[in-house]
Amino acid sequence: MTIERRVVLVTGGGIGIGRASCEGFGRAGDHVVVTDVLEAQGKAVAQSIVDAGGSAQFVALNVRSTEQADAVMADIMARLGRIDVIVANAGIAHRVPLAALTDEKWDETFDIDLKGMFRVIRPALDAMRAAQSGSIVCLSSIMGVAYGWDEHVHYSAAKSGVVGLVRGLAVELASAGIRVNGVAPGYIRTAQLLSAENSLGPDAAELASPYIPMQRLGEPDEIASVIQFLASSAASYLTGQVLTVDGGLLVGRY
Ligand SMILES: NC(=O)c1ccc[n+]([C@@H]2O[C@H](COP(=O)([O-])OP(=O)(O)OC[C@H]3O[C@@H](n4cnc5c(N)ncnc54)[C@H](O)[C@@H]3O)[C@@H](O)[C@H]2O)c1
Repeated sequence: MTIERRVVLVTGGGIGIGRASCEGFGRAGDHVVVTDVLEAQGKAVAQSIVDAGGSAQFVALNVRSTEQADAVMADIMARLGRIDVIVANAGIAHRVPLAALTDEKWDETFDIDLKGMFRVIRPALDAMRAAQSGSIVCLSSIMGVAYGWDEHVHYSAAKSGVVGLVRGLAVELASAGIRVNGVAPGYIRTAQLLSAENSLGPDAAELASPYIPMQRLGEPDEIASVIQFLASSAASYLTGQVLTVDGGLLVGRY
């Protein structure tokens, strides 16, 4: 059986940018496979899409597990018969000064923020190649494409790695009709950014806002809409790029 709607899988879809992305694809009429380690939040997102008249399901997926990633994709192919879009969004950003940065912490960040993307993309490639169509969108960061971030060197390095993943995969998959792009968000109002322990926190976010040319933080919907564009036929000739979406932060002069 193959359903008619596009099938879109989002990792880390329970909250933040992932949640906004799931809801956006749901509103657009796609079947959304909401995945996350946060089961209650992920189920609530899938339910809200269904309640709004859309099509969605929740599947638990820890992007650290190759077995889970392979099983989720095999199940999608068995039940739905297609995979059109992958949004590799799941990520962590933990503040750790270099002196305290253990091998385990470095590996955890890379395992989720970079290898976790590869794990979810790999089992979809046979189906996308067979369909000669597919779109993959990976979340980098301004901390991966332009800024250095003190006490987050593991995060910055992994998010820079996402740029290499996007470029390499884009070239390898272009002839198969599969496009691979990324988004590098600036300061977006989510749990990650508002964590004082691991990121800016609410106070620093307020202080940072005047230095953003648009004078405000971004909202998750404003990243989700760019992800949707990249995954749409409107971006049919766009591959291998990482779009910075930051309210003008990087091009501002302060
Ligand atoms: N918020 C920002 O300002 C900002 C800026 C630049 C980049 N980003 C990137 O955008 C993406 C989404 O960020 P956000 O702000 O919405 O973060 P968030 O913390 O609000 O959400 C992150 C999501 O990833 C999930 N996740 C974490 N570990 C996972 C794992 N092992 N397996 C599966 N899911 C897992 C979480 O459960 C959560 O749903 C991340 O990759 C982040 O690095 C965010």
